[in-house]
Amino acid sequence: MSAQNGNGLLKGKKGIIFGALDDRSIAWRVALACHREGAEFALSNAPIALRMGALDELSKETGAPVIPCDVSKQDEVDDLFSQVKEKIGNIDFILHAIGMSPNIRKKKEYDDLNYTFYQQTLDISAVSLHKILQSATSTHNMVNDGGSVVALSYIGAQRIFSKYSDMNDAKALLESVARNFGSRLGDRGIRVNTISQGPTKTSAGSGIKGFDGMYEFAEKIAPLGNPSADECADYCVTLFSDLTRKVTMQNLFHDGGFSTNGISEELMYDLQRLHEQDHNS
Ligand SMILES: NC(=O)c1ccc[n+]([C@@H]2O[C@H](COP(=O)([O-])OP(=O)(O)OC[C@H]3O[C@@H](n4cnc5c(N)ncnc54)[C@H](O)[C@@H]3O)[C@@H](O)[C@H]2O)c1
Repeated sequence: MSAQNGNGLLKGKKGIIFGALDDRSIAWRVALACHREGAEFALSNAPIALRMGALDELSKETGAPVIPCDVSKQDEVDDLFSQVKEKIGNIDFILHAIGMSPNIRKKKEYDDLNYTFYQQTLDISAVSLHKILQSATSTHNMVNDGGSVVALSYIGAQRIFSKYSDMNDAKALLESVARNFGSRLGDRGIRVNTISQGPTKTSAGSGIKGFDGMYEFAEKIAPLGNPSADECADYCVTLFSDLTRKVTMQNLFHDGGFSTNGISEELMYDLQRLHEQDHNS
């Protein structure tokens, strides 16, 4: 069977998907891929994002209930999992695809951060993974043995991309929270990993100053080119499936090879041409 029709990789599995905003969102594409593979799931996003109404369309297409939740608020996270339990029961997988930096939105540079915003960046983009995992696995104890959790990260956690500002810090914290929970949940066969996705043209991505430059740069370096949101969704499916039962506490680069390639022939050629133009002018 082709991937287009699905291979039933998630048949019988239930989950929750955080972060679908519009049809470009990585979480939106993951929801479609999980539906294609036979999973049942709930969708969640911040109440303010739900007001746009786009998620109703995805909900209709996948039969998934929508449960509002601002993940920076512990009581809302706890209430969300009570509702998930009521609506679909215990779950096997969680996708955390949430990121937001008020500093980046307000164009505050890294050496001029507003610390209230900084706290919000960390709360929404990283500490939220802790809140979600603590609530789902401890408070509500509703993640089945053998389950799988994936959070989306970016290479800014390891290497500094200046315009990614305080999100570099948030992603480093996010990856650490994933490792900490992965270590604690291993005895129940529950995996916790982060996928470090290459630049992708979504609402969050395009909100970063200089995003187009970062996108083009990565595209030129990555031997396989930048990954799309749909390709990321297929990778998530493999991690939610039973085909990756011993993969945990990893930060998995899904970036077309960008993180390992030094320079590409294409970029070298471009730079050489610029050099020659400079020399001749
Ligand atoms: N787009 C990229 O280039 C790229 C690359 C690597 C990693 N990522 C990561 O992928 C994830 C998904 O981002 P995306 O690119 O699909 O963009 P997106 O804008 O579609 O998704 C971000 C989501 O976070 C949600 N969110 C923000 N504040 C929230 C809150 N308080 N409570 C609940 N939800 C909240 C937004 O409503 C939105 O749905 C993010 O973690 C992002 O950092 C994106």
